[in-house]
Amino acid sequence: MKDLFGKALLDYYHGNYTEDIITATNISDEDELPLPYLFRDFKNMPKLEQKALQLAKGSILDVGCGSGSHSLYLQNKGLVVKAIDISKGAVEVSQKRGVKKVQQLDLLDESEQFDTILLLMNGTGIFQEINQVAKYLKHLKSLLRPNGQILIDSSDIQYMYQDEDGGLWIDTNAGYYGELDYFLSYKGEEETPIKWLYLDFETLFVACKSAGLNCEKIMDGEHFDYLGKLS
Ligand SMILES: C[S@@+](CC[C@H](N)C(=O)[O-])C[C@H]1O[C@@H](n2cnc3c(N)ncnc32)[C@H](O)[C@@H]1O
Repeated sequence: MKDLFGKALLDYYHGNYTEDIITATNISDEDELPLPYLFRDFKNMPKLEQKALQLAKGSILDVGCGSGSHSLYLQNKGLVVKAIDISKGAVEVSQKRGVKKVQQLDLLDESEQFDTILLLMNGTGIFQEINQVAKYLKHLKSLLRPNGQILIDSSDIQYMYQDEDGGLWIDTNAGYYGELDYFLSYKGEEETPIKWLYLDFETLFVACKSAGLNCEKIMDGEHFDYLGKLS
């Protein structure tokens, strides 16, 4: 990994904002991911994220913290937060912005326990592939204190397969439709492609049941997205 995501966060933090990140997937064309969005404050967050932050309590783990926006909000409310991210640049930016406890760590290498675990901005993306969901849910469950909760958002991206007449062109032999190849580039450099998983609520619900987790939809978002609470 070249950590272009981290490089972009560092550029923005240091006042060198000249371009946005470009993303694309195997089923969609190029799109811009505006860097200011990755530094959003509470009032500029989607309602789903605001709701997740309002529900967060006790000791908190912010998984894939990015620039640390969610952690900072919670920390400012007096809550104890640990932020983790695999991106070195993201960890550096979070630290510089004032997140007190932040570590470069893969979710699967985390071993402390928490009352609330946050996975936001398509949190299921971190699971990467449908056949890894059980492994990640089992691990997340092991990180929960008694009565703990996991707050996670995702989207049902079936709409991305809709043609102009409203028909769906999902290839049912190709595996789960929410499993995408994700391409990112920044300032002319291309990141190593990754898998990024969008999970519809029903599929998450069934996977949680198998993992021994209760799964409840807290709210729907504005565009096929939702916030789930696993406990
Ligand atoms: C879409 S970004 C979201 C960032 C932040 N949560 C936000 O809402 O602005 C996903 C983040 O997850 C991180 N990430 C991906 N896989 C991870 C893993 N296995 N463990 C920890 N962090 C991970 C990425 O480096 C990236 O910063």
